[in-house]
Amino acid sequence: MRWNIWSSLARICLVVVLALGGWAADAAAQETEENPYTSRIDTRMGRRLFQEQCSTCHGLNAAGGNEATGPDLTTGSFRHASSDVGLYRVIRDGVPGTSMIGVGADTQEQSVWQLVSYLRSREAANAVVELAGSPAAGQQIFNGKGDCVRCHMVNGQGQRLGPDLSYVGNRRSPNELQSDLVDPNAEVNPRWWTMKVAGPDGQQVEGLRMDEDTFTFRIMDAEENLRSFSKYGDWSYERVKTSTMPNAADLLTATERDDLVAYLYSLRRDR
Ligand code: HEC
Ligand code: HEC
Repeated sequence: MRWNIWSSLARICLVVVLALGGWAADAAAQETEENPYTSRIDTRMGRRLFQEQCSTCHGLNAAGGNEATGPDLTTGSFRHASSDVGLYRVIRDGVPGTSMIGVGADTQEQSVWQLVSYLRSREAANAVVELAGSPAAGQQIFNGKGDCVRCHMVNGQGQRLGPDLSYVGNRRSPNELQSDLVDPNAEVNPRWWTMKVAGPDGQQVEGLRMDEDTFTFRIMDAEENLRSFSKYGDWSYERVKTSTMPNAADLLTATERDDLVAYLYSLRRDR
């Protein structure tokens, strides 16, 4: 009998402690209205947690199995939450009466926030950005009138005289793409500097600077031929730090540039 009383008391204490723990975590979530864990590393950690713990129901990239197994979480609107704190609660406590159980109060606060960051990043990747141009028209200009394939590759088609643009939509925003087109010299990575070389008999060679050390350098010309030169031979050379890319404003109308931006921005993949 006495044993039973003590065990019941112990059990009540345990329940109180657990409840207080939950309450403390709740208070923490309320205090920090903003997600404190939003760095790229946090998002990547969140993605890992998601793939371990949530993907069986919500799909590997959170785009959902179906309503019964787990809804699409990338649409940007949630039925049970409107804020980051709301999402935090849903992930921790689940949705009562459904198979969405939630990670519980034992899971570190940081991990739950990282899951929130991951979901927000998926939503951003899917956000519908209203762009003026048409991606299909842009693709035609890219391969045709704009002659962008002369220097750029997209999915293995084109040349290597400029950056590969297969996933340029992941690293450049539509606004940045606009300025890439009309202001190619804004920031030119040394990778894209060129060399102008002149031989003793007046020959001239020009190409992308592929590598350079104290004694030699190598260039790639417009036909993608590689050539090596000694810095101490008969050839003189000059580094050119501007971009080889023509200013698209000289070649294309504003509408055509909008189409190109729409096309380039569509070149993305889920990370
Ligand atoms: C056993 C399947 C299952 C697992 C595992 C699961 N969920 Fe869910 N989840 C669901 C279902 C089903 C719903 C829809 C509940 C309802 O009817 O509203 C849901 C709903 C949600 C919602 C709310 C969606 C909305 O529109 O408000 C979020 C956010 C969520 N889950 C995140 C997660 C995260 C993060 C994990 C991993 C820690 C996870 N889920 C694990 C099945 C699951
Ligand atoms: C003669 C070669 C050449 C041509 C033609 C060319 N580009 Fe470029 N492009 C480059 C080089 C080199 C760079 C990298 C240096 C720089 O930033 O300008 C670049 C950079 C870019 C970037 C920035 C990419 C990044 O990762 O930051 C975009 C976007 C781009 N070009 C789009 C285009 C489009 C669209 C066309 C066709 C209208 C085009 N380019 C035509 C050589 C070219």
